[in-house]
Amino acid sequence: MEKFAVTGGNRLSGEVSISGAKNAAVAIIPAVVLSDGICRIENVPNIADVTLIASILEAMGADVKRLNKSTLQIDPSGIKTPVASYELVRHMRASYYLLGALLGKFHRAEVALPGGCDFGVRPIDQHLKGFAALGASHNVSNGMIRVKSEKLLGSHIYLDVVSVGATMNVMLAAAKAEGRTIIENAAKEPHIVDLANFLNSMGADIRGAGTDIIKIRGVSRLNGAAYSIIPDQIEAGTYMAAVAAAGGDVLIKNVITKHLESITAKLREMGVEVEEYDDAVRVRRTGELRHCNIITMPHPGFPTDMQPQMAAVLIKAKGTSIVKEGVWDNRFKYVDELRRMGAKISVNEKTAVIEGVDVLNASPLKSTDLRAGAAMIIAALSANGTSNIEDIQYIERGYEDVVEKFRSLGADIKRIHTTETNTQTA
Ligand code: EPZ
Repeated sequence: MEKFAVTGGNRLSGEVSISGAKNAAVAIIPAVVLSDGICRIENVPNIADVTLIASILEAMGADVKRLNKSTLQIDPSGIKTPVASYELVRHMRASYYLLGALLGKFHRAEVALPGGCDFGVRPIDQHLKGFAALGASHNVSNGMIRVKSEKLLGSHIYLDVVSVGATMNVMLAAAKAEGRTIIENAAKEPHIVDLANFLNSMGADIRGAGTDIIKIRGVSRLNGAAYSIIPDQIEAGTYMAAVAAAGGDVLIKNVITKHLESITAKLREMGVEVEEYDDAVRVRRTGELRHCNIITMPHPGFPTDMQPQMAAVLIKAKGTSIVKEGVWDNRFKYVDELRRMGAKISVNEKTAVIEGVDVLNASPLKSTDLRAGAAMIIAALSANGTSNIEDIQYIERGYEDVVEKFRSLGADIKRIHTTETNTQTA
């Protein structure tokens, strides 16, 4: 079994460059299905989720070439059947974007029910509500969702819940529908805007992405395009939180500072210095960390995908902090892991009360999901001793070259192979 061995105590210094946004890439790659030409996608993060979604398209008949570490060229013309293979699809929740893309292209789609991280119920009723408004019917049987429609007609859709996935999926299905679609109560995350910009670069007519009302005028054809994905707001935030926890002085390059505003504001509240440049932020923590309160909300609120990472910083901040999870039902499963290190956290439903401690001790740690795994690295960086972090496949789903990037900043982290009897360094 592979683990990360992280030894605390090193301050972080130097520079790190942020990769393309995972949550944009896993929607933009399926969106290529809608194109009648070849697409070149740049700044694609080299992570497991991207490899998986690209291999699903390939299994369906697309021609996928990796031109270099961060550039994919995809020709979707070989896709003739709108059925996504169960074996691959069931591993990744974001594979549900294939529903919207295949429905938009073929007027029918068959995709396995979503899997993904385990922090509470992850329904797709709003996705299906959007498809139904466009004229599509759906049925679920033996683990597959089937949607189909004679034709897709633009409609006025009000999402009951602010949902990133539903907003993206309705955009995909409506891009080539007849007439105009309006999505109200739309999610406003940076990756929503990135998908809309990509679709528009192919010839779509989508306005208002990034606000809560998105207007889509369907077009008959979408052409091949070349597009570069935005930097990953959450990867950047994760490294900012790591500097806050371990201390040090790091330049985080290839970011869009506007996407980091809520994270920067919270870190400054905690006494961390953040200097903003055109496409970089410099993060310094020399003194004591102060407590602060966080409520996660849809963008532009504090991102839920940064909640575990910030908790991993607050466990050593002076005073008591309150963290409220405003998006997911149960995103505190990782707290038990931090308690093993000596953290003082009490959780009641969707609220965690964190009492800062002076000392954390290394411990074996599990990654209960992608961002919780990142939080374990952050906590281990500020603990005494060496923590072995398990289930690192979750972390590698969303963080490119995570060991190399942390090591380049001076962190003592290495990948180790362990069997029941012995351990050796990779
Ligand atoms: C996306 O998930 C992200 N995943 C998640 O990031 C992120 O936590 C989430 O958005 C919120 O920002 C990807 O983009 C691949 P939602 P998604 O639909 O689209 C409820 C990560 O770490 N809801 O915005 O699945 C839902 O239960 C991952 O990168 C419905 O009720 O999230 C939740 O409470 C983890 N019905 C809330 O809405 C629906 O049909 C927000 O979910 C859909 C969602």
